[in-house]
Amino acid sequence: MSNNINSNEQFLKSEKNDGKEKVPTSRDSRVKVFAPATVANVVCGFDVLGFAVNEPGDEVEMQLTDTPGVIIKQITGDDGRLPLDAAKNTVSASVQHYLQHINRLDIGVEIKLHKKMPIGSGLGSSSASTVAGLFAINKLMGDLLTPTELVPFAMKGEELACGYGHADNVAPALLGGFVLVRSYDPLDVISLPTPAGMFAAIVYPEVDVPTKDARQMIRSKILLKDAVTQWGNVAGLVSGLFMNDFDLIGRSMKDVLVEPTRSILIPGFEDMRTIAMENGAIGFGISGSGPSVFSLTKDEETAQKITELQQQHLTNLNINSKAFVSSVNAEGPRVL
Ligand code: HSE
Repeated sequence: MSNNINSNEQFLKSEKNDGKEKVPTSRDSRVKVFAPATVANVVCGFDVLGFAVNEPGDEVEMQLTDTPGVIIKQITGDDGRLPLDAAKNTVSASVQHYLQHINRLDIGVEIKLHKKMPIGSGLGSSSASTVAGLFAINKLMGDLLTPTELVPFAMKGEELACGYGHADNVAPALLGGFVLVRSYDPLDVISLPTPAGMFAAIVYPEVDVPTKDARQMIRSKILLKDAVTQWGNVAGLVSGLFMNDFDLIGRSMKDVLVEPTRSILIPGFEDMRTIAMENGAIGFGISGSGPSVFSLTKDEETAQKITELQQQHLTNLNINSKAFVSSVNAEGPRVL
């Protein structure tokens, strides 16, 4: 399924913005939404591939009011790390962009954000919050835009969070399943099939790797021979998803561009790869910009075993960790 939007900026500034008539809100003035964590890059597809998981994820409670403006009323579960300032918080800032786009800046919105997943973990933490907020406001506006049409607004949130509006977390968080960002300009987001029975085994070593810093480490120039390897793998992974071919997916989960640099920041990375591959993983790599790592498996039992052994290894290295075992989330955000 191709979901082409002619241009991200063009969409955000489209004619709808300038319309004088007011979009009516839905009958409900309050909603609570869950949005899922995501594994971006899927090893070989830096900035262009990602998939959503069923857990963890974030929750947003949203209430419409008569006082114009978007405010963050409460944030829980963040240990005070996220900004309450509505202009700096990715949830309120993207909701504000949305309201501007639909010409409803007269509306008041109160947001409560409940962080249910670790921040700076490489699991699309800011993306889950932003997507929950956008899904909530869109619900309250009577599902005015499609999930694909919400992607550019969510990308604005990513820009605020890490300096670049990448879509490989927000697109799968909004659409569910595996997603390919075929192009950024024009934005072209493609939903890919998920092979039945596939599980993700995620381990988060509790060390700090901010996405902004992890992006700055990457070489901006690459060798043609490395590019050839990389696009062969991206095409192989996408083909494997369509063909339900776990071996092809596994063979394609190789990254010669980004992983060699970023993996240095992740304690026990090569040992965790050995553990994953010796215990039945289809493939293994860094989740997003790290420090979380993930394995894809053919069943839940294998995923459980891999996370237990990897966590044990991190404990031996005196590193605290969290683990999540989840099937691929096919639906994206949901109303709670
Ligand atoms: N594609 C992004 C990156 C994902 O690797 O920086 C960040 O979660």
